[in-house]
Amino acid sequence: METKIFTTDEIAMAATAINAGQLVAFPTETVYGLGADATNEEAVKQVYLAKGRPSDNPLIVHVADEATVEKYAEPLSDKAKQLIQIFWPGPLTLIFKLQPNALSKSVTGGLDTAAFRNPKNEATLELIRQAGVPLVGPSANTSGKPSPTLAKHVYHDLQGKIAGILDDGPTQYGVESTVLDMSTDTPTILRPGAVTEEQLTAVIGPVISSHHHVGKNEVPKAPGMKYKHYAPSAQVYIVDSPTDWPVIQETLRQNQVHAGILATNDVLTMNDFPENVEPFSLGEGINGASHALFAGLRHFDLESDVKVILAQAFPDDHLGAAYMNRLDKSAGGVHFNAQHPETLSEER
Ligand code: TXA
Ligand code: MG
Repeated sequence: METKIFTTDEIAMAATAINAGQLVAFPTETVYGLGADATNEEAVKQVYLAKGRPSDNPLIVHVADEATVEKYAEPLSDKAKQLIQIFWPGPLTLIFKLQPNALSKSVTGGLDTAAFRNPKNEATLELIRQAGVPLVGPSANTSGKPSPTLAKHVYHDLQGKIAGILDDGPTQYGVESTVLDMSTDTPTILRPGAVTEEQLTAVIGPVISSHHHVGKNEVPKAPGMKYKHYAPSAQVYIVDSPTDWPVIQETLRQNQVHAGILATNDVLTMNDFPENVEPFSLGEGINGASHALFAGLRHFDLESDVKVILAQAFPDDHLGAAYMNRLDKSAGGVHFNAQHPETLSEER
């Protein structure tokens, strides 16, 4: 199958493909999603196949309005309505109890709940309206790889497997939406994202953050959180302190390991890395870093042959919670140890 690139002037063609049961990747303000008609079970099954995604990992249903949620979900609470009022369209996914048999098992993974999201991207909202159906949309990457923040990332992973990609340039945030479970007594953050815990608490009071440290034998509530994620083939090391950089610089100068560095502009200009080091700029601050993290991991994975990647840590709050959650997964929890810099090597 030839994968077509649709421009934002070709939304009608993309909608026709969706209505024919085909897969079309779509832009959002977070990452690109892999779209299919959420009411077409055969089409939804193709999404799992194209991504290589385990079938027990449910999908987010992307809607253009609140009314579509009310069609499938049990009556919304006042808190849910407030969140929708304030944060939609935007990077907040809400999980609600469903009416009996409202959506197929392939969408929900057999749960009695479903995740809904109203993305803040005009082209995609128009695609949903023209198709006249909600769209399932997992991130449009091969399962386990960093989420795509550019149409070319989607093309790389899924070319030949999907009908098209609606290209609307780079995404705004670069990390996926916050997933908030509204089906429990106290709302629970299952995945941190661009809408922060602090912002949620300000609107609806206390929330539980269950995403912190899911142990190996625990069953995470968001099925997707148990899988290895965002992992390039080089080992990623988290760099916790700015004082680690001079140590890293010296270690790499001595051991000559081919290394990629993911850091903000201030770090890159303040240090003098040797020639075996490839820098990739995370731009300025946590906003820049969230935007560029996945693109940086993909760059080192596909366009260079670095053996290790050193990536800058940020404080674990506000947007930093989302960034550190993704970085921690891509590193498998491995941190650079300035006391034992010799452990920074290719053989891990
Ligand atoms: O920003 C985003 O959310 C992107 C864009 C494309 O919208 N989508 C995305 O989808 O990241 P995906 O499938 O990669 O991640 C959805 C997460 C998974 O961890 C999944 O397990 C969880 O949401 N999830 C979906 N439905 C659920 C449910 N009913 N209960 C608990 N977790 C659920
Ligand atoms: Mg994903």
